[in-house]
Amino acid sequence: MNLLEKLTSLSKRRGFVYPSSEIYGGISGIWDYGPLGVELKNNIKNAFWKEILQKNENIFGIDAAIVMHPKVWEASGHLESFSDPLVECKKCHHRFRADYLKENFCPDCAGPLTTPKKFNLLVETYLGVVEGEKLKTYLRGEITQGVHVNFKNILNSSRAKIPFGVAQIGKAFRNEITPGNFTFRSREFEQMELQFYVKPNLEESFRWLDYWKEKRFNWYLKLGFKKENLRFKEHQRDELAHYAKAAFDIEYLLDGEWREMEGIHHRGDWDLRRHRDFSGEDLTYFDEETKEKYLPYIIETSGGVDRAFLFLLADAYFEDEINGEKRVVLKLNPQLAPYKVAVFPLLANKPQLIKLAREIYKNLKNEIMTVWDDRGNIGKRYRFQDEIGTPFCVTVDFESLEKNDVTVRSRDTTKQTRIKINQLNTFLKDAIKKETIDF
Ligand code: GAP
Repeated sequence: MNLLEKLTSLSKRRGFVYPSSEIYGGISGIWDYGPLGVELKNNIKNAFWKEILQKNENIFGIDAAIVMHPKVWEASGHLESFSDPLVECKKCHHRFRADYLKENFCPDCAGPLTTPKKFNLLVETYLGVVEGEKLKTYLRGEITQGVHVNFKNILNSSRAKIPFGVAQIGKAFRNEITPGNFTFRSREFEQMELQFYVKPNLEESFRWLDYWKEKRFNWYLKLGFKKENLRFKEHQRDELAHYAKAAFDIEYLLDGEWREMEGIHHRGDWDLRRHRDFSGEDLTYFDEETKEKYLPYIIETSGGVDRAFLFLLADAYFEDEINGEKRVVLKLNPQLAPYKVAVFPLLANKPQLIKLAREIYKNLKNEIMTVWDDRGNIGKRYRFQDEIGTPFCVTVDFESLEKNDVTVRSRDTTKQTRIKINQLNTFLKDAIKKETIDF
């Protein structure tokens, strides 16, 4: 089994990610996040928001709609250019992305292929109640356009002054020809983006591109990614998206293959110019300082939440041996881990232990994301918590009843220490901080 297969299995087994609508056979390229998955995903999104919005004074947030006026997609160029080359096998009629095929015949049955056709990735949808009069539009193919069509609204309702940015997190949809590799290429996924508006000066705008490149790379390091598993890849001219003047990907090394996690793009004035031309609205910016009117350039950072999620699992996944017994452990940054602490009574049939353990659990839960576990024996509980990345386990035993202390066990070292119950919250909060690469 390669790592991707192990993660797919662990995710389903432990409740990170399930195939969507599985009882009906699933649906290709669509996934559901389970009880642990939603925690990890929210923690990633909150970390992004904190990094981009809270720590900068010139960034504003937005949450635009998924469905937009169809003209948006004409103006953005997606209707014309947002496509992949599709080929079909003349024998078995399976369809493939031509640019992913190594040979010019069907990988499934070796049959001959049709010549490549452009296949548009936008997902169509229809609004309205009267048949024949329904409005045909699209689920957004990128979250970006919801920001640029609101450029004037944001300027008029905030104190935004160039250079400034707008951040957004939300769902995007693409009718991918070949979804796969677990959640890596999905048809419904989430993006976390920054659209940063700067003066339309090439030199200055490329300085901002460098600035955001470095910031974003460092953010992934702060999340805990190993540096050797991350790199930049510059897009060559023929790889650039229709809107881009320059583009760099942050890539992650998984199963020996470098895969895109985030794109950092110089979009020039493409979006504002096109929306100005298609809507007839004046989308220029008046610069109070220079008394000039211009269409700003846009530097974009566009990350996939689901990809950061998948790569974090991959980066944190270890198999080791403790006292001759194999274990799987997710060494997630404690700030990202779904649960920070698990509380157990040593035995599940001793009311005094359960009573004290429940008190400790309730007390911790108010301040720290804590989970209760009294199934199986203590060794099994440790294994389970290791596998879902819980950094600390607290066990209440018979000594606890006499000495008012508990055992705290670390996920990464498996070392155990006894801590007084009245010092437990502070101890754990400090330990979580200490083991965290702060972000
Ligand atoms: N607004 C620019 C934009 O959307 P992109 O490179 O097409 O650029 C940005 O997408 C990021 O969105 C990618 O780096 C990736 O992390 C994520 N992404 C794109 N397509 C995806 C898919 N089919 N499944 C999961 N994530 C995807």
